[in-house]
Amino acid sequence: MKEIEDKIKHYPYLKYEEDLLHISKKPSLSIVEKIATPFFLYLPERFEHNYTHLKTALSKHVAKSHISYAIKANYLGRVLQQAKSLNMNAEAMSLFELLLAERAGFNFNQIVFNGPAKTVQELELAMTKGIQYLNVESMNELQTIENIAKAKELKQEITIRIHPLLSEETEKKLLIKKNSKLGIDYDRATKLYKYAKNSPHLEPNGVHVHVGTNLISHSFYEELFVFMNKYIKELVNKHGIEIEYLNLGGGLASKSTLDSNGFDLNRYAEQISTSIENVDNMTVILEPGRYLVEDSFVAVAKVLRTKSSWGRKWAFIDIGANSLIPMRYSHYLAVPGQNKGKGPYCRIGGPLCLPVDVISNESVSYQIDEEDLIMVLNCGAYTLSMSEQFGYPRPAVYELDTVGEIKIIKKADIVEDMVKEAFSFENDS
Ligand SMILES: Cc1ncc(COP(=O)(O)O)c(C=O)c1O
Repeated sequence: MKEIEDKIKHYPYLKYEEDLLHISKKPSLSIVEKIATPFFLYLPERFEHNYTHLKTALSKHVAKSHISYAIKANYLGRVLQQAKSLNMNAEAMSLFELLLAERAGFNFNQIVFNGPAKTVQELELAMTKGIQYLNVESMNELQTIENIAKAKELKQEITIRIHPLLSEETEKKLLIKKNSKLGIDYDRATKLYKYAKNSPHLEPNGVHVHVGTNLISHSFYEELFVFMNKYIKELVNKHGIEIEYLNLGGGLASKSTLDSNGFDLNRYAEQISTSIENVDNMTVILEPGRYLVEDSFVAVAKVLRTKSSWGRKWAFIDIGANSLIPMRYSHYLAVPGQNKGKGPYCRIGGPLCLPVDVISNESVSYQIDEEDLIMVLNCGAYTLSMSEQFGYPRPAVYELDTVGEIKIIKKADIVEDMVKEAFSFENDS
């Protein structure tokens, strides 16, 4: 069926053979023989593929670069271990994420630490352990860092997270706009640089920008990089600040989304090298989350029930919005475990008693019946890390490795434990 073939075109690990969906060559039906739905399936091969493509493109155009995996996108231990084994760095936003990174084997000199309101405890821990990429967003944060550095008799390298000046039209489309809580306008940022330059305990040597997610536009990057180049030149020429680290943040859409929109990672890397003068004297840092993990996970679900109402058919699957978080930038795709051909138009929803619990606002036109398997694609980013026990337990996560073995990497919540937890105060007395 063309609709299904079109949907999976940019997911090379999916294939229908005799109308049965295979995931990384494994028949989906054979996977659910042993494992009860719903569950997430992690495909480490895809994660590596995504990383390799980005790193190869960058290396062709930029002399020095780091890819720092944004832990917030998906903090599962196996994902972090794989990021580490691929020689990535990590990006963290809290004590929890710093400790996760440490547990996965990252040294603090491989971690970018972000966040608009880091606590003194977090800063002290990070600085004691030798945090290398400390991103700062306000004058009082900078002064707190200076005080800690002074007490510890060290000189702390810092990067300032700026919000760039882009055209009104571009600003309108961004998730993180000028008046958002993140970053600092470039005029104030310059004041932070000047303050830091005059402090014996601070070394301002990086600039950071991160303004959105699911970005797929070469012209957007052109505009951003031109601004960054202008700003860096001003820092160097007017204020004598040497920029060693250019952190261009996260924000890339998933590999499959980029592919389906004709976005070329080589061109993106080339745009960096042609827009930023002296880029070869800097280390370019990227902090992708969504790009690496979004299409490295598949959610495997079963249809619990179907119904028709007001002229629309519905199929309700056993995984819902408590783990497939409905966010502005999520675009889940549902494909069947078995292609049964054309059927009536049908919307797919989860089991929650909530109207937003729909997999997508588009109807599918393939035949769906109760008990059928449905795979939800594009579900690896900002799902497991943001999931809730909202009425339902969070599903287990399995890994399908390169030799076709499946192993559990995170247990499902148990409903009885959730009930116990809600009444845990009774055991305290
Ligand atoms: C500072 C920073 N870097 C990187 C990321 C990762 O973004 P994405 O998953 O869109 O690549 C985020 C996400 O919110 C972020 O806040």
